Amino acid sequence: MLNDIQETLYDAEQIQQKVRELAENISRDFEGRNPLVICVLKGAFIFMADLVKNVSIPLEIDFMAVSSYGQSTKSSGVVKIIKDLDVSVEGRDVLIVEDIIDSGLTLSYLIDVLERRNAKSVTVVTLFDKPARRTVELDADYTGFTLPDEFVVGYGLDYAEKYRNLPYIGILKPEVYTKS
Ligand code: PRP
Ligand code: MN
Ligand code: MG
Repeated sequence: MLNDIQETLYDAEQIQQKVRELAENISRDFEGRNPLVICVLKGAFIFMADLVKNVSIPLEIDFMAVSSYGQSTKSSGVVKIIKDLDVSVEGRDVLIVEDIIDSGLTLSYLIDVLERRNAKSVTVVTLFDKPARRTVELDADYTGFTLPDEFVVGYGLDYAEKYRNLPYIGILKPEVYTKS
């Protein structure tokens, strides 16, 4: 598996340092608001766990799984809810936790859903951002690292469901995803 990685972009310690910074800012900004922190499965599961461990204020957590309808229809922004939240967001300060923003379609759909369900506020934290790939105008409120337009895996991010368990983020060797 290590042999499939061309280059490490951020190692485990650099990521942990950034996660602690983001958690400090979130702790300060959400003080007294008991935010509902929503993990977007599957990619955000590791970031979610590391983040909330470093947030020092009371909060609640929930999980949502979404999927887009394959590459060809992804540009239409059609996203399907695979697993919905267990609790109501009505009147809640919601913090969406994402691993990466690429086209922005997943998040723009989720933000829309949560606003229509009358969340009091919807805020987004993403560990990684690939602004070069954006098709809808959207920026996270908190961003960890801005990445080049390369195929990256690790720290929750997959290629064909693999590599999520890597504690760092790296560029996947092109031969891994071009081989038939
Ligand atoms: C990935 C990633 C984000 C989304 C970003 O999830 O985890 O959720 O794509 O892409 P976008 O900005 O173009 O919508 P994916 O759909 O691969 O599911 P996964 O989290 O289960 O890997
Ligand atoms: Mn995802
Ligand atoms: Mg994926």
